[in-house]
Amino acid sequence: MDGPTKIFLDEKDMPRQWYNIQADMPTPMKPPLNPGTGQPISPDDLAPVFPMNLIEQEVSQERWIDIPEPVLEKLLLWRPSPLYRAKAFEEALGTPAKIYYKNEGVSPPGSHKPNTAVAQAYYNKAFGIERLTTETGAGQWGSALAFACKLFGLKLKVYMVRISFDQKPFRKFMMETWGAECVPSPSPNTNAGRSILEKLPDTPGSLGIAISEAIEDAVTSKNCRYSLGSVLNHVLLHQTIIGLEAQKQLALIDTYPDVVVGCAGGGSNFAGLSFPYIRDKIHGKEVHVVAAEPAACPTMTKAPFVYDFGDTAMTTPLLPMHSLGHDFVPPPLHAGGLRYHGMAPLVSQLIIDGLIEPRSYHQLECYKYAVLWAGTEGFIPAPETSHAIAAAAEEALRAKEEGKEKVILLNWSGHGLMDLTGYDAYLSGKLSDYALPEEEIARAEAALEGLPKP
Ligand SMILES: Cc1ncc(COP(=O)(O)O)c(C=O)c1O
Repeated sequence: MDGPTKIFLDEKDMPRQWYNIQADMPTPMKPPLNPGTGQPISPDDLAPVFPMNLIEQEVSQERWIDIPEPVLEKLLLWRPSPLYRAKAFEEALGTPAKIYYKNEGVSPPGSHKPNTAVAQAYYNKAFGIERLTTETGAGQWGSALAFACKLFGLKLKVYMVRISFDQKPFRKFMMETWGAECVPSPSPNTNAGRSILEKLPDTPGSLGIAISEAIEDAVTSKNCRYSLGSVLNHVLLHQTIIGLEAQKQLALIDTYPDVVVGCAGGGSNFAGLSFPYIRDKIHGKEVHVVAAEPAACPTMTKAPFVYDFGDTAMTTPLLPMHSLGHDFVPPPLHAGGLRYHGMAPLVSQLIIDGLIEPRSYHQLECYKYAVLWAGTEGFIPAPETSHAIAAAAEEALRAKEEGKEKVILLNWSGHGLMDLTGYDAYLSGKLSDYALPEEEIARAEAALEGLPKP
């Protein structure tokens, strides 16, 4: 066997700073707008929602930002995460390509999400906040924040998208084990939830609705703030430790990837792995960067680049992003974390600038590769992660056709041990492919009319 199967990084070599791509972007990100005035928002506009120390990070243009000591201490519970070579998966595909993957499934809640959860819990605690609210799709984010809040002594209420709440009861039990409260969204606890339930009593829910509920709860409660698990600049920043570690690990074996791949829901794990490589690309290095999403929720590949709200009740600032419309209720996919209507503004801008290639995949193909992965590499991937695996497999099969020894690096964003109902549906033949119809895209475009254009 050529080369190691696992590459570990010593604890003392774990990165001590996050990388902020805003310092290197060829086109700066357009500013978020106040929907009332149409003017760029000020940090004060965000103060009821986020603590000021995180708002400062959100707007920072500094290239490197120090990771506070208490955050490093918590990250060391599972980081540096191992870099694996997927030798058996390569063999099953019969490819000459080498596939490396960053295993973010080794964190206590099972995904990359705690990389930002521990940072956000720390900054809120340092700012004197006592309670947080949030939304969760698949439950990975809710359980990551529950874990982080427990470590830093904060209370937490999680609004969980109803379809996932029903499909994934074990995620709720995890959140409760870490001391958080978890309710299905839409819920009767907020004005936003009640008004949706009146109109659509059987709705499967959406991240947009759950975000509205969590923000409303935060801004109407004392000493409480809201925490978001993806999309925003500071969240993507906290995830860059993944790519920075990967660069050090691959350097240990004198390797640099030809292709870097991640799945993208709101864009955070993808950005976490890819932004340090996109920095290299901006400075002339040849590396192809691919973001994978579901054909059922094709934000990056089909939706327009617009100013839109981050939530359904239109309470957030307007963000410059690829969006299917803030009132979009995506089909009930098993990859719950990829059902968001928008895409991180930083990722959206880098797509516009041609630095990222977005691709969409059907769920049957994703499950096919997820099952092949489980049978070769052993680890069962989260349904979200299976989209990155499908993209890596596509690259590896292309390398086979071309007879090239490409190096592919993928972000293995989480394990699927709490998502087995999706595997059951796939294995018993109950799943089918679904691509969002063109009429839905046209509907989304119409819903966005009247909002400012980036
Ligand atoms: C395992 C896993 N991967 C990927 C995602 C997508 O989120 P993001 O695009 O922010 O990484 C999620 C979201 O819940 C997830 O749980």
